Amino acid sequence: MGHEAAGRVAAVGPQVTAWSEADRITFDSTISCGTCRYCTRGEVNLCDHRRVLGVSCSDYRCAGAFAEYVIVPQRIVYRLPDCLSFSEAAMLEAVAVAVHAVSLSRISTGDQALVVGAGMIGLLTLQALRAAGCSSVYVADVDASRLKLAKEVGATATLHATGDDLVSEILCCTNGAGVDVAVEAVGVDAAVRAAVHSVRKGGTVTLVGNITPEVTLPLQKVVTRQIRLQGSCASAGEYPQAIDLLASGAIKVKPLITAIAPLEDGPQWFERLYSREPNLMKVVLTPEAVSRTHSHGQ
Ligand SMILES: NC(=O)c1ccc[n+]([C@@H]2O[C@H](COP(=O)([O-])OP(=O)(O)OC[C@H]3O[C@@H](n4cnc5c(N)ncnc54)[C@H](O)[C@@H]3O)[C@@H](O)[C@H]2O)c1
Ligand SMILES: [Zn+2]
Repeated sequence: MGHEAAGRVAAVGPQVTAWSEADRITFDSTISCGTCRYCTRGEVNLCDHRRVLGVSCSDYRCAGAFAEYVIVPQRIVYRLPDCLSFSEAAMLEAVAVAVHAVSLSRISTGDQALVVGAGMIGLLTLQALRAAGCSSVYVADVDASRLKLAKEVGATATLHATGDDLVSEILCCTNGAGVDVAVEAVGVDAAVRAAVHSVRKGGTVTLVGNITPEVTLPLQKVVTRQIRLQGSCASAGEYPQAIDLLASGAIKVKPLITAIAPLEDGPQWFERLYSREPNLMKVVLTPEAVSRTHSHGQ
């Protein structure tokens, strides 16, 4: 938690050349080493020595940005255009996740796509698929309020279904052929299965959701229909593109921000989110020190 943030540079270390105090910036949640075989190939998300801000599993453990100040290396920092507020810019990490998943999906103009799961990641993926040239993007979820948001940010049609029902609906929308690409942004058995069964022969299923460690794979379907399964983790160099998409309005995050609240209200918001109170999406927490000193806020 606290791996998505934006703000101003408060101070720089002696070897920092690219940044100065007061610069408006955001940063990647992955702290990559910059020197391993993956980093040198630009696959910073796969860095052998990566740490992830705000993630607690032992391999990548690192304190997050629910704080007044955070220290990050200059190589993971990105400059913000003035048109983006800090609250919007705090969503860039998730936008980059979506853009990365879409770039791995190898979209061709006019492709039809399905996004399973209309959470933050699904809703951003929908918009990134649109920006990449998909002619139609269907979005499925089991929560109607999430689907309302999907419609608001550009879904061709929303499907209130999962599992076999979802597959029937997609086949119906595509004259029985299936979509070219399905992006799975839930990470549970029924959703992964539905994604696999919803793509056409030779189609791609991009796996982004990972809430459960294991799912059942419809092996014969994947093999005999030659479906490409593509895992997608975090992002690798998509920040500049994500910034452009947000700045140009091609991707909209404002409708996905439920509230902007002071940092000290964080525990209450976590409880409300954890208890799955309806109609909540992203909550941006604003450290008071920042909002007090800068009129831009957050
Ligand atoms: N690969 C990555 O880099 C990466 C990055 C961020 C998040 N994730 C993963 O992506 C997934 C989505 O993240 P999020 O932040 O959008 O979560 P979220 O909780 O906001 O969204 C999940 C959505 O899935 C819906 N859902 C639940 N069961 C469903 C089903 N059977 N069929 C269809 N929809 C269903 C929920 O109603 C919800 O709207 C999570 O598993 C998360 O861990 C992966
Ligand atoms: Zn590395």
